[in-house]
Amino acid sequence: MARIAVFGAGYVGLVTGACFADLGHDVRVRDVLPERIEELTAGRVPIHEPGLADVIERASDRLSFTLDAADALEGADFAFIAVGTPPTYSGDPDLSAVWTVIEELPAATRVTLVMKSTVPPGTGDKVRRALDARGLGDVVYVSNPEFLAEGTAVRDFMRPDRVVVGAFEPEHVEPVAALYEPLGSTIVRTDVASAEMIKLASNAFLSTRISFINEIASVCELVGADVIDVAHGIGLDPRLGPHFLKAGLGFGGSCFPKDVSALKQLAGNSGYHFQLLSAVIEVNELQKRRVIQKLGKHLGDLHGKRIAVLGLAFKPGTDDLREAPSLVIAARLVAEGAEVRAWDPVADARHLLPDVTFSASVLDAVRDTDAAVIVTEWPELADLASAEVRDAMRTPVIIDGRNLLDPEAARALGFVYEGVGRPGPSETAR
Ligand SMILES: NC(=O)c1ccc[n+]([C@@H]2O[C@H](COP(=O)([O-])OP(=O)(O)OC[C@H]3O[C@@H](n4cnc5c(N)ncnc54)[C@H](O)[C@@H]3O)[C@@H](O)[C@H]2O)c1
Repeated sequence: MARIAVFGAGYVGLVTGACFADLGHDVRVRDVLPERIEELTAGRVPIHEPGLADVIERASDRLSFTLDAADALEGADFAFIAVGTPPTYSGDPDLSAVWTVIEELPAATRVTLVMKSTVPPGTGDKVRRALDARGLGDVVYVSNPEFLAEGTAVRDFMRPDRVVVGAFEPEHVEPVAALYEPLGSTIVRTDVASAEMIKLASNAFLSTRISFINEIASVCELVGADVIDVAHGIGLDPRLGPHFLKAGLGFGGSCFPKDVSALKQLAGNSGYHFQLLSAVIEVNELQKRRVIQKLGKHLGDLHGKRIAVLGLAFKPGTDDLREAPSLVIAARLVAEGAEVRAWDPVADARHLLPDVTFSASVLDAVRDTDAAVIVTEWPELADLASAEVRDAMRTPVIIDGRNLLDPEAARALGFVYEGVGRPGPSETAR
């Protein structure tokens, strides 16, 4: 069994550390946030990720947390970098946390440094040169991008579709690949630049599918087709498959928007104009704003109207608010002069949306509102179209941004219901 250091106790680092400890390795996770390390040391899990607390508890004998980089690295065979690489104003990712980790490696470190953070192709080369310049030629560098999704992170880590391991020397691949062997998945052995590119291209392609089906949804609305049936019919073609063909309010989260932008900028920096990705980004931006148009269609001027925004996390199963469509929609509604009431079962957006009122229950959020918008398809919202909710609302208008509800059932109960890409009502609630 190996000694593993993990840098970063966020969604990726904590899951990676806990799961490797669960597989029998001795893991020490390092973060720079004292409160995060304090919480973890006290046995509390600072993020909402289903199943993670159980894994951490089960593996607690082999899992520890520290603020000290040297402490984490002591005796380590592998050091995984899982720090954040958020977007910058230029659209390129901010790699400063990655560089801090490289600078923190003590002199004479001999470890296999494994890059799990998402970084643009070319980063591995730069890290290699920086390591050599620091006299750390004995440090082996391997790229091992992560494909887990928040909300299913533990399952995704333990049952990956594939594991990608890229190295400068083919013999450096195997020790890292061996860590994943118990998981029994296909291992893609490649070079560093290709491993880096696989990650960005995967997220860009998934985002492209989402923007594609959202454009189809907009056309469906104009021609009276139903995007749910259309997506079903498309997805049965084995060349296309059914995944990521759900029309909605667009993609958000800490990865898709940042990685699409990173790939677009990387191409631009290298002299290539990646037109397709520009469209993917633009469609995604407009998709969130279409909600405002739909509300306006039913309510007229939104000034003074009271709107419930239901679901704030960028997707169900997580408390992550990074690039969440809810933030744009709520801010746009406030800018239109609407009074916004928000509800989410786990995400706390009070610091991000100061002009919004937060409700502890769905019923509280919709009470005396002129419309409710489903932004995140939390299971709690599946029975939103009820007589109780209808009677609580000032006007029973539901804009279902995730096509969560059955339109016929909602309309039968007296709601004015509008989904995304589905035949809609022509009447207004005014
Ligand atoms: N979140 C996802 O679903 C997901 C999936 C696949 C890949 N990724 C990629 O993985 C990386 C991490 O993402 P995340 O969502 O876990 O980020 P995160 O923001 O949740 O966690 C990053 C953690 O790193 C810590 N950190 C910063 N500098 C540090 C340092 N010098 N040493 C140790 N810790 C440090 C931060 O305090 C934070 O706790 C990113 O590159 C992201 O693109 C994320």
